[in-house]
Amino acid sequence: MNMITLTIDGVSVTVPAGTTVLEAAKAAGIRIPTLCYLKGINEIGACRLCVVDTGGRALAASCVLPAANGMVVKTNTPAVRAARKMNLELLLSNHNKSCLSCVRNTHCELQALCQEYGVTDENRFEGAMTPHTVDDLSPSIVRDNNKCILCRRCVAVCRNVQKIGAIGAVNRGFKTVIAPAFGKTMLETDCIFCGQCINACPVGALHEKSSINA
Ligand code: FES
Repeated sequence: MNMITLTIDGVSVTVPAGTTVLEAAKAAGIRIPTLCYLKGINEIGACRLCVVDTGGRALAASCVLPAANGMVVKTNTPAVRAARKMNLELLLSNHNKSCLSCVRNTHCELQALCQEYGVTDENRFEGAMTPHTVDDLSPSIVRDNNKCILCRRCVAVCRNVQKIGAIGAVNRGFKTVIAPAFGKTMLETDCIFCGQCINACPVGALHEKSSINA
């Protein structure tokens, strides 16, 4: 096996060629925060929480960046932390922040990262939000796009693991939503209500019907 050696935060680590910087950091015992990444299932570099400094012109998403021999990576510089904080603020700018009444309160990955990076209720990117109708017509799964952060983890697990493909990204740009095609509800799709999309969701955009105070 072809091995490569790189340096991450001053730690030398040797990994098989093809390993991402994120996985190389893990091998070196260095944590890089992630949000959209699910190993082997969703590796699309969407959220940019995992950005690192490789000495290039721009910070790079470590979850999709192949490690290279001799590479020098910094994972926790002020610029890296500022970029991660800004990315969290951008996600929050179009996110229903009713955390206290959310089923994922205190075990929400977005909430935990916001606390870690010092994101406050004062959001410099505050602006128009896109309201979405909550889909609670299925017997067990509630889909609330007002809390969706478009990480696509649910889409990937439904398509790549369960082989169903009940939901996907619909529309483009600011109008992008994760939903069944053709404006259908979950009840009208091939969804088998396995709940894997709920397990994959890092926030409260998908949750069990029984868990809400309906
Ligand atoms: Fe790398 Fe989302 S975890 S871009």
